[in-house]
Amino acid sequence: MKNTSMEDLVSLCKRRGFIFQSNEIYGGLQGLYDYGPLGVELKNNLKKSWWKSMIYERDDVEGIDSSILTNPLVLKYSGHENTFTDPLVDCKSCGERFRADQVPDYCKKEDLTEPRQFNLMFKTNVGPIEDGNSFAYLRPETAQNIFTNFKNVLDSNPHPLPFGIAQMGKAFRNEITPRNFIFRVREFEQMELEFFVKPGEDEEWHKKWTDLRMQWWEDQGVSKESLELYHVPSDELAHYSKATVDIMYNFPHGLEELEGIANRTDFDLGSHTKGQKELDIDAKVAENTQSNAKLAIQDLETKKWVVPYVIEPSAGVDRGFLAILNEAYKIESLENNKERTVLSLKPHLAPIKIAVIPLKRNESSIVKTSVDLKNELQRSIEGRILLENTGNIGKNYRKHDEIGTPACITVDFQTLDDNSVTIRDRDTMDQKRMKIDEVRPFLAQNYNI
Ligand code: GAP
Repeated sequence: MKNTSMEDLVSLCKRRGFIFQSNEIYGGLQGLYDYGPLGVELKNNLKKSWWKSMIYERDDVEGIDSSILTNPLVLKYSGHENTFTDPLVDCKSCGERFRADQVPDYCKKEDLTEPRQFNLMFKTNVGPIEDGNSFAYLRPETAQNIFTNFKNVLDSNPHPLPFGIAQMGKAFRNEITPRNFIFRVREFEQMELEFFVKPGEDEEWHKKWTDLRMQWWEDQGVSKESLELYHVPSDELAHYSKATVDIMYNFPHGLEELEGIANRTDFDLGSHTKGQKELDIDAKVAENTQSNAKLAIQDLETKKWVVPYVIEPSAGVDRGFLAILNEAYKIESLENNKERTVLSLKPHLAPIKIAVIPLKRNESSIVKTSVDLKNELQRSIEGRILLENTGNIGKNYRKHDEIGTPACITVDFQTLDDNSVTIRDRDTMDQKRMKIDEVRPFLAQNYNI
């Protein structure tokens, strides 16, 4: 099991430009972080990998990208206005507020107020009138506008059941106590799939999606030993869920939720649909008099209208980022009592795919060959190829080990004679000499890029 500390990861992220505290020059704003030049690459690569596995590698899922500002009616009928709360307590001694299950040891029980429910949704004014009625919520999950677009997507891109709609993007929660770096924040990203199935087939699909999602995390480099499934007990289930399995990851601060896979039954479509009385809705839903869309599918054989059940794998991008960073981070001992930090990221996630390093900074022929090689590789490789023109080869190798670049290519004086370069592997530190025209197939074969 890994024993990297959160401080190690925070320090690497700041030093190398993965993640910065947001609004730092004005003292920051709690629970918000900014992704720097390397962080944005890794985060985008993670999202691309999810999108590829959900949309491109399947024929039964469509993607959307909906607005963040959300009509309050959506979150009224989804149940969020009434139930998306956490218990809040005040400490009369220190004057601070905490989530009731996260009170620090220094507050005495007798100093705490009775817990009261605090709604986690952010509101913002919409339009020029600030009368308290013209507001929207910042979506607390990406899921809801998948449900509200159910008919639009199906009318334009018809699918029989089962099929899914996927979305990734920002979600906002006014967490009472944001903590543990990017683990619990107030602005984060989710990758969510709502997979619509025939009622009765939901339990089978729930199991299938749990297996698929576990495998996907392993494919991103998260070791099996660091993952665990947690079957959420019925008294802890969200209001919409018949069953939820959480994929738990052993973060530096403990075993916590990385992704939740919920069986949301027909609660969401049933809550947002018009004509509820004519439909056979199993879930207990509030009466909806304001929706103008029938969110159901006609069974081609029986001609009966069916409100599909939903299986929802919902993953946090930021938590995924943290898990992947933690898995990849290693300090290795070298000869002569030296050590190096290595980020053994899978190549498809690495922020820099290849660094091209001219051995001598001011040697124009070497630099020109390096620039040409960089440009040529960049044309066919998806992701960033970096020209590292600082002249210190040892320092460059250390840097690229630490930021997870799978391989460095060095252009030297011999290159000018015989058109060969050296490729150094991040993990083994082995170096191979080869002709420039062998480089591209070598990278494809060894790094799958
Ligand atoms: N649509 C279902 C849903 O939103 P959730 O368990 O509340 O379910 C799904 O959130 C995922 O979103 C979590 O497993 C977690 O990875 C991520 N997440 C939730 N709240 C978060 C927060 N405050 N900061 C970072 N990630 C968060």
